[in-house]
Amino acid sequence: MRKSTFTLIILCFLFCACSQKGERFSIGVSQCSDDDWREKMNREMLREALFYDLDVQIRLAGDDNAVQTADIEYFISQGVDLLVVAPNQADAITPAVEAAFDSGIPVVLMDRKSASEKYTAFLGGDNVAIGRDLGNLAGHHLGGKGHILEIAGLDGSTPAIERHDGFHESISKYQGIEVTTIHSDWTREGGSAIMDSILSGGNRPDLVFAHNDRMASGAIEVAEGRGMHIPFLGVDALPGEGNGLEMVEQGRMLATMIYPTDGDKVIQTAVAILKGEEFERENILESALVDKNNARVMLLQEAQIEDLDSKVRNLSGQVDIYLERSDIQRVVLISMLIVIFLIVVVFAIILRSWFQVNKLNEQLRTQAKSLEEQKDQLEVLTAQLEKATQDKLNFFTNISHDFRTPLTLIANPIEKLVNDASLSGDQLKSLQVADKNIKILRRLVTQILDFRTYDSGKMGLKLSAVNLADAVEQWCGNFADWAAKKHIHLSCEIEESGSREDWLMELDMEKIERVFFNLVSNALKFTPENGEIKVSLSRDGDDKVGIRVKDNGIGMDQGHLAHIFDMFYKIDVAHSGSGIGLALSKLFAEVHGGSLTAESEAGKGSVFTLVLPFKKASADEKIEDGSSLNHMDADAFSGGGLESAAEDDSVLDAVGFEEGDALVLVIDDNKDLRDLIESTLSPNYKVIKAPNGKIGFEMAQKYVPDAVICDVMMPVMDGLECCRMLKSDMRTCHIPVMMLTACSMDEQRISGYETGADSYISKPFSSRLLEVRLRNLIEGRRRLKEFFGDGTAQEDESLGNMDRDFISRFRKALEENLSDSSLSVESLASSLGLGRIQLYRKIKSLTNFSPVELLRMSRLRKASNLLKHTDLTVSEIAYEVGFSSPSYFTKCYREFYGTNPTDDRG
Ligand code: FRU
Repeated sequence: MRKSTFTLIILCFLFCACSQKGERFSIGVSQCSDDDWREKMNREMLREALFYDLDVQIRLAGDDNAVQTADIEYFISQGVDLLVVAPNQADAITPAVEAAFDSGIPVVLMDRKSASEKYTAFLGGDNVAIGRDLGNLAGHHLGGKGHILEIAGLDGSTPAIERHDGFHESISKYQGIEVTTIHSDWTREGGSAIMDSILSGGNRPDLVFAHNDRMASGAIEVAEGRGMHIPFLGVDALPGEGNGLEMVEQGRMLATMIYPTDGDKVIQTAVAILKGEEFERENILESALVDKNNARVMLLQEAQIEDLDSKVRNLSGQVDIYLERSDIQRVVLISMLIVIFLIVVVFAIILRSWFQVNKLNEQLRTQAKSLEEQKDQLEVLTAQLEKATQDKLNFFTNISHDFRTPLTLIANPIEKLVNDASLSGDQLKSLQVADKNIKILRRLVTQILDFRTYDSGKMGLKLSAVNLADAVEQWCGNFADWAAKKHIHLSCEIEESGSREDWLMELDMEKIERVFFNLVSNALKFTPENGEIKVSLSRDGDDKVGIRVKDNGIGMDQGHLAHIFDMFYKIDVAHSGSGIGLALSKLFAEVHGGSLTAESEAGKGSVFTLVLPFKKASADEKIEDGSSLNHMDADAFSGGGLESAAEDDSVLDAVGFEEGDALVLVIDDNKDLRDLIESTLSPNYKVIKAPNGKIGFEMAQKYVPDAVICDVMMPVMDGLECCRMLKSDMRTCHIPVMMLTACSMDEQRISGYETGADSYISKPFSSRLLEVRLRNLIEGRRRLKEFFGDGTAQEDESLGNMDRDFISRFRKALEENLSDSSLSVESLASSLGLGRIQLYRKIKSLTNFSPVELLRMSRLRKASNLLKHTDLTVSEIAYEVGFSSPSYFTKCYREFYGTNPTDDRG
């Protein structure tokens, strides 16, 4: 069960506990009068009501019909659950009683009746019997003759009518008795007045019958006042001073009849009606005669009853107090239960949270521990990495240092030789290439050493007075040739200022020159032909100058831009360079107190901004001339390998190219290297050249060379992609490809071979090795042609007679067994009198292919022939050439020819 549901149930329970009381009814009581008899009855009703959940409200009409009618209407408007009525006069009160009954309120009539049958129940004494008993007593007392005065109750009230009827029913038996009936109003005063007028009239009755004790007492007092002792009869027999019981006991009255009040019974009947229990509609209450014989006993009994009654009232008061207390205690108890419940809930929540927090803490501790361990491992690894990096840098530094002396020793003689006027054109060209590449090498060595200097915190500034405007213009001029060759528009803009002298400032000329050359050479490398590079120099406030190099070249995405100044960061293999130049440039800017930043967008270009603090040089200082330093040479930045279309040598020189010459295509982005290979191979081969894989592939398709020598790392299209395309094109797939790579690691070789490369050679390589490898490649291919009989095998002097004979026997054995799908190398070898290994070695050395490869090629060549010249189906041909399934045949065919067998149908 969810906690919220549980809480709801508990709250409902508590609510019910608070309000757990039975249905409470309201009863309205309308009394016609307010005398002692009514008072006794009211007390009895209220006492009985204590035993039930009842609200009893009593209204007294004071013997007034109008007041009683209003009282009844009031109870109807209050919506009482039940109405008790003692009607003053039957006819006058009947409409109000009927209205209550008709509105659905149960009506209990008591003592007096209405003139209608519309009531729920009636309780009262048998007034006819009372009258009858008293008539008999009177007749007997008078001995059958005499005069009786009947003081009757209020005319129209049912007890007065019934008592009169009963009395006359008995007395009429006595012929000698005469009765005078006079109606009164049930009051003492009414009784006195009648008695007074009778006696005053000189009439002395022999007996007086008053319809109640109250009227009798008024009449007795009048008679006694005149000294007359007349026997009196009454009704009610109430206890208490001056009431019926006392008057009989004192002998002032002859007798009276008990007229029962029985208020308790009225309430019991009302409750039965309200609860829907069984009840009697007509309830006649017991009556009895009280005379001199039992009056005293009755008085004693009544006194006891009164005593008990007062005790009950007392008890009831205490019960009320107890109930009131109990109600308060109940509220307190329920409140405490709610508080306890809430405490338990809060405690449960706290306990649960505590457990969860503990669990989380435990998890956090475990995680923290494992993080701590990982951190330790990381620290160890970082320390190892730092050490390895330091070791590497130390190694590079040492090597670079070692390079400096031999480089100087090479550079100086070459510089001298370049200036030697007696050199031939070819010699001069070779020396210029060497001179340029030595400069590149020196620049790289210097960069590595600079970085080490910075890293060890020893990099300082050699400040001198420089006119930055003059220097920038001069540096730009150094790139004019390179830009022109690439058809790039290079502009240099110096912000207008008052005087040229305003650009005179202090800076480390050599460092800023290197930053500048790095930025412009990068812009030239990554801006395509017909692009634009804008160099601008401007003042940035009084204390800064800025040099901006903006190009509309290939640009870079934001991912690369974020790392462009990181040491050794390279965008990809197509971006040549060591990854030091920009990092070092930034360091140079920073040691000046300046900055170097970049903005770029792939495909749109880049902007590099060098900001330097402007420190004005004094006019007396010796001004450094940019050209006098001669540190930088734009060629040293060009990498020697990036050239323009103007220099494009990728066009086949038709002059001197004859059919039959072995044609070699050299694909490399470094022009010097292409030229070097060309000059190495040109005595024996015709050489054509391409600056990247894309152009190389197009040239291979066009000229179908005998071999391709291809660099791996190149812009636009790298060597691996180029080789893959060459090997998957029908026109070029047979051409042997030799990959040139600076990486001699196995993975590089494997990926080279995976693209279908036939051979590879690592840089640096010797010209001799290149030549021998190339010759072997072309030779192997030629021998393969020979093997299949479509070359000029007979003319090849390099193969001895025995080898030629062996190859021809091997070929014959192949052709004869071609359709045998179970043909094995073992059976082929034994048919030639050789072992399997011997056959493999022999065939491999003669043709560069294994026997299995040759067997598959022979089968596919024959299949190609059959496809072109017969009507056999592809499946029939597959089985004919010894393939065990047509699908495997189709797969091998596609791999070998690059087309489906069905594409090659004749
Ligand atoms: C009280 C009373 C009694 C009498 C009865 C008749 O109001 O007058 O004395 O017996 O009513 O209804």
